[in-house]
Amino acid sequence: MPRFKTVLVTGGAGYIGSHCVVDLLQVGLEVVAIDNFANAVGDEEGSPALRRVEEITGKCVTFYKADLLNKPQIAQIFTKHKIDCVIHFAALKAVGESMQQPLLYYQNNLLGMLNLLEVMRANNCYQMVFSSSCTVYGEPEYLPITENHPTGKITNVYGRTKYFIEEMLKDLCAADMKWNIISLRYFNPVGAHPSGLIGEDPTKEFTNLMPFMAQVALGKKPVLTVFGSDYNTPDGTGVRDYIHVMDLASGHVAALNLLNTNHVKLKTYNLGTGKGVTVKQLVDVFEKVTKTKIPLKYVERRLGDITAMWADPSLAKRELNWSTRYTVEQMCTDFWRWQTMNPDGYPKKNKTNGVLN
Ligand code: NAD
Ligand code: WQD
Repeated sequence: MPRFKTVLVTGGAGYIGSHCVVDLLQVGLEVVAIDNFANAVGDEEGSPALRRVEEITGKCVTFYKADLLNKPQIAQIFTKHKIDCVIHFAALKAVGESMQQPLLYYQNNLLGMLNLLEVMRANNCYQMVFSSSCTVYGEPEYLPITENHPTGKITNVYGRTKYFIEEMLKDLCAADMKWNIISLRYFNPVGAHPSGLIGEDPTKEFTNLMPFMAQVALGKKPVLTVFGSDYNTPDGTGVRDYIHVMDLASGHVAALNLLNTNHVKLKTYNLGTGKGVTVKQLVDVFEKVTKTKIPLKYVERRLGDITAMWADPSLAKRELNWSTRYTVEQMCTDFWRWQTMNPDGYPKKNKTNGVLN
């Protein structure tokens, strides 16, 4: 790689962002990361996740605590650094919270994106990779899901922010040929860096299956509630396409490679494994690799949940030359390594003496 020298990573202290920064540094890119710590541990002194990234790679990350809603702050970063390309992870992503606080989600995710695009244009930076989501597809009309599956029939506000941004990007790229944007629709990211040094440590309440299951395995939660056992699936539980976060990271490097060498205008790719896994199957693998027993409680279906969804990742394979490498066993093993090495997540500030403990 690359013609690109410096990449701005928004939401770089978060789960997927921090893992992606590892790969970006390892292919020789310089990384400027920003985060407002809405859902990540850290403060003015920086991000413990990114400090661990530096430990893993032996390279430095330039970090700013900055908010995309503060446009002058973002503009300042572009004057300090010559940014060649942006990977835009920063967003709020909790589905339940988005239903209760729609304005917060529309403001943060849509206005944050608008501010970013305007600052980029003002600084002659037209290259972007955007974090979209399989959630834009809504209830699948067919499986596996290809990129041209209809979008927009979404049942939650968070998902609609992703859909609206995708529509906005279409208008932008149609109006101005200079833009060169790749939108990546992630399926269900899980796992952690194999070192166990970085992983998922949200500051907001989480409800996703794997982190919840790990809390049960650690004894921090008594039981895993399984939402629905009467779906039309092999064992009655919901089916998803779980993808290792390091496979997602390499998908971003592949997307940058394409932007580096081609003017794609606007392209969209699924990032998934192409394999559907039921809740019960994931629990079985997790129990096996972690040698723990997860108590289960079967309850009604969760409102708004879909039955089954998995990707057709063949377009990304053909055009990005990207495919997944990690198995479901590795996803569970790596997530568990992170959890057991860091049962309380990243080191938090000790409020009494202000020293990292
Ligand atoms: P995350 O919450 O761990 O990371 C997002 C980061 O963005 C957080 O650290 C948060 O503090 C930061 N942020 C939010 N609003 C900001 C703002 N206004 N200014 C600056 N920083 C801000 O989430 P993640 O799982 O790493 O997700 C990254 C991206 O991928 C998000 O856009 C998310 O919607 C998308 N995505 C995630 C999943 C998933 O299941 N994890 C699936 C599909 C798509
Ligand atoms: C997975 C499966 C649940 C928790 C969410 C967002 C989506 C995208 C990915 C960002 C389902 C079941 C879960 C539990 C359970 N994110 N489950 N008990 O719902 O596929 O998607 O993350 O873009 O937008 O909605 O992920 O991990 O919540 O659920 O039985 O305690 O596990 O019903 O079948 P989901 P999930």
